Amino acid sequence: MSGRFSPLAPASLFLDATGTPFSERYQDVYHARNGALEQARQVFLRGNGLPERWHGRASFTVCETGFGLGRNFLALWQAWRDDPQRCGRLHVLSFEAHPFSAADLAVASRELPADLRDAAGQLVRAWPVLLPGVHRLEFEGGRLTLTLIFGRIEQTAREAQAGVDAFFLDGFAAARNPEMWSPALFGQLVRLARPEATAATWCASGDVRRALRDAGFLVSRAPGLGGKWQTTRAVLRPGLGRGLEAAEPGPVLVVGAGPAGAGMARALAMRGRQVVVADPQLAGGRGASHRGHLAAALTPLVSRDDDLRARLSRAGVLRALHRWQSLPGSARPQRVGTVELLRDASQDEQRRLTLQTMGFPEEWVRWMDAGEVSRRVGLPINRPGIFFADGQLVRPEPLLDALLDHARIDCRATRILRLQREGAGWLAQGDDGQVFSMATVVLANASEAAALLSTCPDVVELPKLRAGWRLAGQVSYFRPDAAAHDPATVLSAEGYWLPQVDGVNVGGSTYLPNAAASEVTDSGHRFISEQVADMLGVDAGRVGEWLAEGAGWAGWRAVVAGRLPVFGPVPKAPGLWLACAYGSRGLTWAALAGDLLAASLEGEPLPLERTLQNAVAPR
Ligand SMILES: Cc1cc2nc3c(=O)[nH]c(=O)nc-3n(C[C@H](O)[C@H](O)[C@H](O)COP(=O)(O)OP(=O)(O)OC[C@H]3O[C@@H](n4cnc5c(N)ncnc54)[C@H](O)[C@@H]3O)c2cc1C
Ligand SMILES: C[S@@+](CC[C@H](N)C(=O)[O-])C[C@H]1O[C@@H](n2cnc3c(N)ncnc32)[C@H](O)[C@@H]1O
Repeated sequence: MSGRFSPLAPASLFLDATGTPFSERYQDVYHARNGALEQARQVFLRGNGLPERWHGRASFTVCETGFGLGRNFLALWQAWRDDPQRCGRLHVLSFEAHPFSAADLAVASRELPADLRDAAGQLVRAWPVLLPGVHRLEFEGGRLTLTLIFGRIEQTAREAQAGVDAFFLDGFAAARNPEMWSPALFGQLVRLARPEATAATWCASGDVRRALRDAGFLVSRAPGLGGKWQTTRAVLRPGLGRGLEAAEPGPVLVVGAGPAGAGMARALAMRGRQVVVADPQLAGGRGASHRGHLAAALTPLVSRDDDLRARLSRAGVLRALHRWQSLPGSARPQRVGTVELLRDASQDEQRRLTLQTMGFPEEWVRWMDAGEVSRRVGLPINRPGIFFADGQLVRPEPLLDALLDHARIDCRATRILRLQREGAGWLAQGDDGQVFSMATVVLANASEAAALLSTCPDVVELPKLRAGWRLAGQVSYFRPDAAAHDPATVLSAEGYWLPQVDGVNVGGSTYLPNAAASEVTDSGHRFISEQVADMLGVDAGRVGEWLAEGAGWAGWRAVVAGRLPVFGPVPKAPGLWLACAYGSRGLTWAALAGDLLAASLEGEPLPLERTLQNAVAPR
């Protein structure tokens, strides 16, 4: 996407003379004038053999090419909810280049019949910030998922991964909106399709039917609404259909109980998988791998060309926000926001230009002058900055404890020494003699993943991982002499200064390559004190006096070249996954990587673009 970033162009609600939502951009109505819901039920649901086709299925996936006001989605949701024989889980993947704002969706929902208003209200409340990329929404306790991909379908269809059973083809009229009916798009839809997938549309154009046929569908005509005009139905030709399928149900072994392992375990357990998590640190409790790590920050990045790291951080922060906001008490990250202070005039200019080019909504990120920064942070600050409302303050130990606290997660205090293939699965041996035999194993053990992988003789070499390294570092704990130094937000510049937790402000951090050990040191305290002093505009000696006695936390960061995390399947080793090299942003990647693996195992639409998956893939 670098180099061809195009900002999202949202839609705004406009009704034509008949009161039907109308797009001025495409000069067409969003649905048939005699009713969106009737059209949804007759054309899209009936046209795809629903609800009957989902009967007896554990899950069923629908893909729609144009989310619009979500009328089809709401009709589908209602049909699923009202059907006693509904499939266990319903996944909807939908593309949209011009999303409405939540406010417009709310206004439009007033026209809906009473029995749909509750669902419409839930959709509005879950509606994501209008940023390009994949957004995953969940309803009905996670049994109904909506994966929205914002951006032009010409680009985003090839970023999607799913196993689709039914397609709702719902662009504007083909003459005005040809991108939504093109042979190239239909080719991508066939890539996403499962065997026997069907498609339906109100569109009866001969060109569209031919394009569907050429892509691999058997196409037929069907009567339209009230028998007035024709619609199109299609079924995938036998022999086609390679979309994602669910893997065999079965337990998963996760090696490592830090943020990577805990994020994985949680995502799997909440989808019904049994998970064993192995880590010697678990002898000290579920949060022990980050014992004493009082607080950390979870903050998105921006870059001038919206590079991979920036896109990935956006996906990660949004996923963490979604996944972890329902956790109890101190495990729940606090959405305090982050102010990134700008160093000098040149960085200031660069950042402003970046934000202008990206066209991101202000509710995601915005520039602030020094006055506004000071008001937001609640401290006098003499630099401008950019503010991310979704920046979060995290307490790693209670977070890990809560993530691993699940009836389907079995925590075992053991170090995995060896891994080997066993039939179609894997055999892992712990240092206390425990042996685990599982079809799926995730190595989430940071810089030790490469060594563990090398114990397995016939697994391919992964040069990126083998060449990885680790960086020691510490944070320091301060008790300032006045409340006037406690920020309301995460404050970041060269270092960071976090809002108080248990009366302590955490300042960070040091980066020490080639260290033999990772420990809290006086020189580390001095370095951090200087960074904090610089941010707060106070004397470094004074900040040094605030140091809580001997206090801080030291740990390691596992890193590979390019500084992207590594998560995904190990090539030519079915069932073996990696989730490591999380560097200095482990909390940003943990929920996302967990959901990506779990979604792959369950055959759900994947919550991350293919380009980004490739960027973090182990190879
Ligand atoms: C000073 C400092 C400050 C930081 N601040 C932040 C911050 O503000 N925000 C942020 O997002 N990130 C921060 N980080 C980075 C963050 O801590 C890491 O990205 C994160 O810990 C990585 O998670 P992980 O689970 O991959 O690795 P770890 O947390 O290192 O956990 C790996 C686990 O694997 C276990 N293990 C290893 N080998 C085996 C084996 N063979 N068998 C079983 N278990 C094994 C280990 O015992 C360990 O518990 C900071 C890091 C440091 C050092
Ligand atoms: C007919 S409307 C869909 C109505 C919708 N299914 C509903 O239930 O409300 C077509 C939708 O396709 C979207 N669209 C048009 N061109 C697109 C493109 N190139 N990529 C993605 N979406 C596009 C439009 O913004 C519009 O929301």
